[in-house]
Amino acid sequence: MKQKIILTGDRPTGPLHLGHYVGSLATRVKLQHEYKQFVMIADAQALTDHAEEPEKVRRNILEVALDYLAIGIDPKKTTLLIQSMIPELCELTMYYLNLVTWNRLKHNPTIKAEIMQKGFGEAVPAGFMMYPVSQASDITAFKADLVPVGEDQLPMIELTSEIVNKFNRTYNCHVLVNPKAHISQVARLPGIDGKAKMSKTLKNAIFLSDPENEVAKKVKGMYTDPGHLRVEDPGKVEGNPVFTYLDAFDPDKTKSISLKERYSKGGLGDSNVKKYLLEVLEGFLSPIRRRRQEIAKDPQEVWNILFQGTEEARLVASSTLSEVKKAMGINYKSK
Ligand code: TRP
Repeated sequence: MKQKIILTGDRPTGPLHLGHYVGSLATRVKLQHEYKQFVMIADAQALTDHAEEPEKVRRNILEVALDYLAIGIDPKKTTLLIQSMIPELCELTMYYLNLVTWNRLKHNPTIKAEIMQKGFGEAVPAGFMMYPVSQASDITAFKADLVPVGEDQLPMIELTSEIVNKFNRTYNCHVLVNPKAHISQVARLPGIDGKAKMSKTLKNAIFLSDPENEVAKKVKGMYTDPGHLRVEDPGKVEGNPVFTYLDAFDPDKTKSISLKERYSKGGLGDSNVKKYLLEVLEGFLSPIRRRRQEIAKDPQEVWNILFQGTEEARLVASSTLSEVKKAMGINYKSK
């Protein structure tokens, strides 16, 4: 049987946080043993809303790569690559854009939410509006079967599927592969402020690279049940991010269950639960932090890993582009 392929990635606009881990990083670490996995640092996509800050994007390529390596993405198993170094992706995008309507792009729910969040108004860059098509190029260039991402990325996979079907139908071929999204089974991680989503922009994130004192400060200030005023009062577990984090990170499930019971009955204070949560998070984060510091000592080596992966990935993308052009009948050759 043909080996299954994963393509996934992140925009390097900041370091990665616990929400990324729960949403898709954990899956990538696990699935790298079963799939041929490509993980893309999507710097070109990051530039679609950071055109004025290429330096920030450049800096964060290294941060994101360090996060990947520190959590256990193994460059011997996973091919890490830098998006902008594969120009074939731009070419594919150019052809795919003709298979998508402008109207379809305008109604992409993730794009609409981002336009609001970033306050673009009418001044939304054209490159930003079409990044979902460029993402379809990322996915199809590697003929990915599976795309492990957070649920906000579902509209992108849906669009990719539409492009794949339209391409194969229009050019009467089977060149492109229809991908499936892989959405994490674990519930989405809320922010430390209790908002539905942990995000760098909302400033409610715990980063994988946060030092211990920063994690302690964030956990201490975490939103809990606002109705839980006195220790003896019954507290709400549901929608209480402290317990959602325990669900996601505490390896000792019986302990979290008993804490939840005591909290709901009354008699367990927030500060005690938070103290335990900090222990749990540190149990998870401290080995990652140590590995990250070790790897960060030699940034050139990290760049080399990225360059090597990119070179390998480019061959794959280039071969898909050739097939695409052939299927379209635009593979002109001089005799
Ligand atoms: N859109 C993703 C993000 O916001 C990054 C990304 C770019 C991506 N290309 C991709 C994810 C291809 C999965 C597959 O972080």
